[in-house]
Amino acid sequence: MGRFALSSRALLTARLPSYTGGLHQAKTSLRPVEVAGRVQSWRKDDTRLHVDSFPSQPSNGKRILRVFSNVNPDGRARVWKVGEPFERVARQFWPKLRAPLPSERGLLAAVRVTKGVRTRYDQFMLKLHDAMKLDPQYQERFAGATQAFPAGARGCASPIRCRTPRSAARTNWSKPSGSM
Ligand SMILES: [Fe+2]
Repeated sequence: MGRFALSSRALLTARLPSYTGGLHQAKTSLRPVEVAGRVQSWRKDDTRLHVDSFPSQPSNGKRILRVFSNVNPDGRARVWKVGEPFERVARQFWPKLRAPLPSERGLLAAVRVTKGVRTRYDQFMLKLHDAMKLDPQYQERFAGATQAFPAGARGCASPIRCRTPRSAARTNWSKPSGSM
């Protein structure tokens, strides 16, 4: 995992040199179990198209960039759902998103539902994540839009992603939202 984290940093340094100074490397993980087919709540159902947002770990306005590598030992492709540009997603859902109540973010941090206080950005991104997953017509619209990455392929994604097949390693990165 350490080697993957180092090579991810090297990849971003080589391909996105102007971003290097502002990158904050988060945890690296191995996803050995496929998302599709799991029984879980709608919020955790990552087969639904969504923007990434971490309910308990606010990004404090940083944008999420994921580097992944398909290390599937059986040679299976990693298939992602793909959506539309973020601006179109925001235009559709943003007007319907509820703004946080004045004390809501502080209260969630005080009872340790979140690690630290969510920014308004975090709050709205989580609401957007939820609104997308809860909209069956929206999900249907992109049901057939997929991008397959063959075994051995490496890629980056930010911030809309979905299906995760078996044996995917990935590193999360973030960058201050104002500088992207
Ligand atoms: Fe996600």
